[in-house]
Amino acid sequence: MTSVAPLHVESASPRWSPRRFVMCRPDYFDVTYSINPWMNPAEPVDRSRAIEQWELLRTIYADYGHTVEVVPGVPGLPDMVFAANGGLIIGERAISARFTHPERAAEGPAYHRWFARLGLSGLVAAAEVNEGEGDFLLVGDRLLAGMGFRSSPSAHAEVSRHFGLPVVSLELVDPRFYHLDTVLLPLGGRTIAYYPPAFSQASRAILAELYPDAITATEADAVVLGLNGVCDGHTVFLSSRATDLHEALCVRGYHPVGIEMSELLKAGGSVKCCTLEIHDR
Ligand code: ARG
Repeated sequence: MTSVAPLHVESASPRWSPRRFVMCRPDYFDVTYSINPWMNPAEPVDRSRAIEQWELLRTIYADYGHTVEVVPGVPGLPDMVFAANGGLIIGERAISARFTHPERAAEGPAYHRWFARLGLSGLVAAAEVNEGEGDFLLVGDRLLAGMGFRSSPSAHAEVSRHFGLPVVSLELVDPRFYHLDTVLLPLGGRTIAYYPPAFSQASRAILAELYPDAITATEADAVVLGLNGVCDGHTVFLSSRATDLHEALCVRGYHPVGIEMSELLKAGGSVKCCTLEIHDR
């Protein structure tokens, strides 16, 4: 088990800011169906280990000065631990998810009910297929949005209208990387890390133009879902297995903190999938 790294919050770069995260404890986590190439129902899942890994992630967030709010899991919804997919919350506006696969459909209303308790003035349920922060990532003043496997192009338009923000649509082409957050990691609002081969040629050209100083991840890091991380402006929380990315982040002055997420990886998820951010603007 990875131990908690020493804290440097007070000496962190000025870009650091405290975050508000939503997580769902994997009390009902399992792999009972397969909706992505990572999921093999024949391979056993150690739920208590999944809970341990999840608890460590939650503790680390708190140790680094972030708030974590916990959504109760629902029996029969084994993927609900992946809170990032529950929707998108920016300031007073929020949208709850509408899932692609029937196996996850009931998670949309479950997250919607929980969001309703936040008392936001602009909460709606998605009309189009929308898998939340799995496919919609806020980078500065724009949203990057994935399509090809889950969230639909019409969801991109719906999100842009609802939040009043520009949305850049990006096409995913490799089924192992079915959500945008499996291959693209926002780094503090100005730049990103990403894995170019997961995108269509046209989308790669867009990303290269928007983020000329981006970190491009290696295949070794992509295949352990190393890009499925969370950055608070200074510290980057990510899989401990993504060793090239750890090094590249250090070179750029970020502080990577590695977490072992082996059990959640069996469902195709890692750190970011378990984390929905309540963006304060
Ligand atoms: N088993 C889940 C699915 O295929 C994993 C979701 C991972 N979440 C994410 N934000 N990428 O839908």
